[in-house]
Amino acid sequence: MADTITIIDDRTGKKVTVPITGGTFPSSALRELDPSLFMYDPAYLSTASCASAITYLDGDAGILRYRGYPIEQLAEHSTYLEVAYLLLNGELPTADQLSTWAHSVTHHTMIHENMRKRFVDGFHYDAHPMGMFVSATAALGTFYDDAKDIFDKQSFDKQVLRLIAKVPTIAAMCYRFSQGLPFVLPNNSMPYAQNFLNMMFRIGDDHAIDPVLARAMDVLFILHADHEQNCGTTTMRVVSSANSDPYTSTAAAASALYGPLHGGANEAVVRMLAEIGHIDNVPSFIEGVKNGSGRLMGFGHRVYKNFDPRARIIKQTAYDVFEVTGKNPLLDVALKLEEVALKDEYFVKRKLYPNVDFYSGLIYQALGFPVDMFTVLFAIPRTVGWLAHMQELLGDKEQKISRPRQLYIGSDERNYTPINKR
Ligand code: ACO
Repeated sequence: MADTITIIDDRTGKKVTVPITGGTFPSSALRELDPSLFMYDPAYLSTASCASAITYLDGDAGILRYRGYPIEQLAEHSTYLEVAYLLLNGELPTADQLSTWAHSVTHHTMIHENMRKRFVDGFHYDAHPMGMFVSATAALGTFYDDAKDIFDKQSFDKQVLRLIAKVPTIAAMCYRFSQGLPFVLPNNSMPYAQNFLNMMFRIGDDHAIDPVLARAMDVLFILHADHEQNCGTTTMRVVSSANSDPYTSTAAAASALYGPLHGGANEAVVRMLAEIGHIDNVPSFIEGVKNGSGRLMGFGHRVYKNFDPRARIIKQTAYDVFEVTGKNPLLDVALKLEEVALKDEYFVKRKLYPNVDFYSGLIYQALGFPVDMFTVLFAIPRTVGWLAHMQELLGDKEQKISRPRQLYIGSDERNYTPINKR
């Protein structure tokens, strides 16, 4: 059987045959039939907008791989910084490469004093940390006059390093500001996740971070590092296709992540669990969802229609964390919700399963993060995924500035009516 597809324009009888490669065919084939013909594909449900070698996922089989490595193996054996190197460079680092990379990241974690004193201090006391994070990430680029040199590899790599190193510092700074707590400087003797927890929670001199909790944070960072062409990453690609600098592009991607249907879902899950309050209220809540009074947050995924492999790892990580912190009281509600929903025909029929956000919020809460910091915790590790995609896009000769077409459904031409005649 030929790996081709033939499209016939029934209006003219013209036909075109094009190859099917990796389950895709070039949509430019349509324009061979008629130059004014475009596919109408709201929300890109059937459109691959790029070729990518970074992350593979098969939603039906529940498979997620970074550069070919299964997420389960990376979560068990790797560290976030090693995964970041892998995503950016395509290969796992040697011991020397890893130690140089980790040293470089660690020694770029400081941010300019003016960021805190003049920029962050200007926010209202109760500003949402994600709004602060988005703005501060964009503002960070204004401190580097080489930020725009995106086609100079050395300069681009420098911005990537700065962003990966500094986003935890920005996140912790925004949190400390919102709490009225003094800013804690990065500590160069601590690994990435531990340093972040230290900047977040250190009070006084003798604040030790439990290694189980630091490891859990690192695993969560690994699981969130990339997820191919989701809303935030697509935003990153669209904005950087205009050759914007990595800081403003990252801020744009983080803005997409902020939405409750995307990275904001972990926050929405915990608010939902708190609202349900008790396992006895689960059945009536599920009935409400089925009757259209809202969605079961943390359930469903555009791509995973069987299970989200990250959700399985996170559930295990949750138990590891609760061994140290004590059980999050909302866990029982979450378990009951999962049990009821997975047996309910409404959810089964629509292939709705727990996604990465269903249990991550419970872990964040047990670690001591306030709910409105949750999406920031997603944005920190996703920064490397966004930057890996930006790097790939800039090196892709097939890419141009993103510019989809539209199906115009507005008025035909009509004459301007003076205001006194309307
Ligand atoms: N609760 C109840 N019903 C749902 C849910 C849900 N969580 N998700 C989808 N559905 C229903 C829809 O109402 C629709 O039903 P219908 O066919 O009767 O109209 C059907 O399932 C298909 O839903 P769509 O919205 O078309 O699915 P889509 O792929 O566009 O949406 C999404 C995916 C946005 C993730 C959706 O499942 C959702 O809103 N989930 C809750 C929010 C969430 O957890 N987001 C995090 C996603 S993971 C991430 O971004 C990191």
